[in-house]
Parts: sequence; structure tokens; C-alpha cells
Amino acid sequence: MECPPFKIKSVEPIRLISRSERENRLKENGFNLFLLSSKDVYIDMLTDSGTSAMSNRQWAGIMLGDESYAGSVSFDHIATTVQEIMGFPYTLPVHQGRGGEHVLNNILVKPGQYVLGNMHFDTTKAHIEYAKGRAVDCVIDEAYDTEIDHPFKGNIDTNKLSELISKGPDRIAYVLITATCNNAGGQPVSMENIRDVHKIAKKHDVLLLMDAARYAENAYFIKKREPGYGNKSIRDIVKEMMSYMDGCIMSAKKDALVNIGGFIALNDKDLYSKLAPVNILMEGFPTYGGLSGRDLEAMAIGLSEGIEERYLDYRIKQVHYLGQLLDDIGIPIMKPFGGHAIYINGKKLLPHIPPENFPSLALCIESYLEGGIRGVEIGTLLAGRDPETGKNVCPKLDLMRLAIPRRVYMQEHLDYVAGVIKTVAKRSEEIQGLEFEYESPILRHFLSRFRRVDISEP
Ligand code: F0G
Repeated sequence: MECPPFKIKSVEPIRLISRSERENRLKENGFNLFLLSSKDVYIDMLTDSGTSAMSNRQWAGIMLGDESYAGSVSFDHIATTVQEIMGFPYTLPVHQGRGGEHVLNNILVKPGQYVLGNMHFDTTKAHIEYAKGRAVDCVIDEAYDTEIDHPFKGNIDTNKLSELISKGPDRIAYVLITATCNNAGGQPVSMENIRDVHKIAKKHDVLLLMDAARYAENAYFIKKREPGYGNKSIRDIVKEMMSYMDGCIMSAKKDALVNIGGFIALNDKDLYSKLAPVNILMEGFPTYGGLSGRDLEAMAIGLSEGIEERYLDYRIKQVHYLGQLLDDIGIPIMKPFGGHAIYINGKKLLPHIPPENFPSLALCIESYLEGGIRGVEIGTLLAGRDPETGKNVCPKLDLMRLAIPRRVYMQEHLDYVAGVIKTVAKRSEEIQGLEFEYESPILRHFLSRFRRVDISEP
């Protein structure tokens, strides 16, 4: 067995507050784990976004950042790194993924148009809808079954895609491949599928983009699982993936190993020229886009580190270590294990809680109460309401995500997490669901407040 390809130079203390304090924090914060202070969280698996430990090279880059308003040398570094790794000649920095989504959809989406993809992330969907477009998920059916063992559950159903596009290519604003597919369990998209989607998009002259938040982890899965790619380097796989795209949008807070940052990268100068003025309005001048020079510098270095094979090998194996621990004790989890997180099937573990009472949220809350672990619900709460009927969407997948920050936790932390989940699962029948005390109108999981529903009542 290999050790992680790094050693630790700086440590951050964590502490477990008492169970009664945890119960109080839950009540004070309306049972919403987003509202907790992080000092009250022991193991924070809320997200893998912006939570990476930066390397000594990235910290050195912070000192070298060029803070010029225009023409920053640090911008040149990120633009040349994007071109070298992904092949796109035009890069627009943005402060994070959703900043890019705001700019992109403002220009690309006309009211009533569709954006087709495998499974849109929540901010992506919200920005498409904010631009008065419709976000449609076209992921393969296997993605909705947590038990089927399919190597590329993030794939787009190409029949569905062709059918929707051929009804009227003008009604399609663009096609977006999210790699890996976060809402489907961090599941990858195969090169074959990327190629097929490219053919369909080009046949109808529709723009094809990648949500590249976790593109490097996706490339790793292609290397490990797709015939013909085992001997290719991650760099070559990434180049090929991106060669089928017209561009990408990236939250650099994931695979570029930074705490803040993102970019839009494109092949087409004309599209870049349409986006750049909007970027100035919403994010900042095209050479900084809402970031400081030091952020750009750290992002350029992190982008290269994020595709190192030894790092990716350690990273994915660490996630799978937790998956295996939970699988071994019989916890129902999404399989095969994804790239950045392990997803527990809350609906299956707590079948007595109806979707409208948020079983996976209940699981998150009990895991916090039991051991100070903070996970996140990816289910009915996150999915929100149908804009036309106002009813809860109740997606097929109702999951608790345990996201693993990059280069942050050790094996002992994950052993602890598995122990806590085991204890929670043992008392699953007593766990209560939740109902709204206050429902936030937009991206409701962030700010809503809840109360427990007594399951003993008829
Ligand atoms: N696209 C994907 C696939 C994401 O997972 C996220 C964020 C975004 C876009 C938006 O990027 O946060 O930089 O604005 N995902 C985080 C998560 C929040 O926890 O999965 P952002």
C-alpha cells in the first residue's frame, strides 16, 4: 500500500463539543447544518469545495501574486496553464463557479430555451432558470439506481439527447456535461459518451460545454475503467476530453485545489468577446474576474497539481476507503463509489420517513448529533419545488453526501466517521423526519429552518 504523496507542514486543531452542546446547536440553528459555526463541527464533510489544503508551492504563489488591476502577470499564468492543460485559448477568471454560471447564462440563454445535460448541479440549474431557461437532466437511467454497478453512471442518455435536440435545435441554448456528475454521486462520464454527445451537438450545431469542477477525477476514472485508456497519462486523457468541447466552466474550488476561484475557458473568440463585458459588470475586469492576483496564482499552480497522477490515485483511493468501510457494515451507499464523496441512501436507511420529511436530512442531523460530523442532503430538500406546480420535486435519489476535502483528513478521521454512521444506523428506526419552520424561497437548503416531526404520531 502506498502512503499519501505529501507530508503535513501546518495543522489546524479540531475539537468535539459535548452531545448536549450539539443538541443545543441544532435547536438554535433550526436543524440546518449550514447555519452552524464550524467551531462546533468535528469532521466537516459538508463539501469538497474550497476546503482543500493548499500546497507549499501554492502558498509560495500567494506571495508572488501580481495585484495589478489590469494585465496581471498572474492572469497570464492561469491563462497559459488552462491553454496548456485544456487547450482553450480564451480564459475569463470568475470568483467561483456560480459567478461564471451567472455570466454564461446571461449571454447564452434566451427565455424559454433549454440547457440539456447529464445532471445539472443546483446552482447551475438555478442560474439557468434565473436567465428564464429550462434545465433538463438527460443522465442514463442507471444513475438513479444506487445499487447497479455501472462504470460511468454520469453518462448522458444519447437517445434522449438526440430526441430533445432534434425537436428544434434553436430551442437549445447549449449542452453541458458535468464531469464528474455531482448530484448522481460523483459518477464519471466515459470518453465514449463525451465523443457521442459531441457528435450529436455538432450535427445540430449546438454549443457543447463541460462543467469541469471535477474534470481531473473524471479523467482518473476514464484511465482506470475505460478500455484503451489504462496506459494513457491523465494529461492526455484531459486533452482528449476537452478536444470535444467548445469550452468549459470551472469552479476551481474542487479539482484546482484552491479555496476560491473559477473560470470560463473557450475556443471561440467571438463568444469570449460577448462574455467579457458581462464579466466586467458582474465579476471584474477580464484579467482578474473577482479574484486577487494571489488567488489567480494559486489557481494556476493548483490546476497543474490537480492532474498529477500520484495525487489523484491517493485522492480517489481515500474516498473509496470510506466507501468500503461503510459497505462492509451494511450501510446502503451509492455504487460504484464516486470521485469526491460517499453518498448514503437515506431513503433506504430510513424508509419510515416520507420524502417530504427529508430522510437524508434527518440522517445528516443524527450524524452531527452522534459524532459532530457535518454532511449534506442531496435529495428532496435540495431539489426544491416545481416552478409550475409549486410541489416538492422528490427526486429518485435521496442521499446524504459525505464529501471529502482534498488533502485534509487522514485515515483515522474516516475510521471515526464510519463508526459514527454505524451507531446512527443501529438506531435508524427511532430517527424522526423534519418539516419546515421557515422555507427559504431560493436554493432553500441553505437558509431554511426545520423542526422534528414526531414519528409516533399517526
Ligand atoms: N458545478 C458543480 C458540478 C458543482 O459541484 C458546484 C459546486 C458548482 C458548479 C458551483 O461552483 O460553488 O464554486 O460556485 N458545488 C459545491 C458542492 C458547492 O458542495 O458540491 P461554486
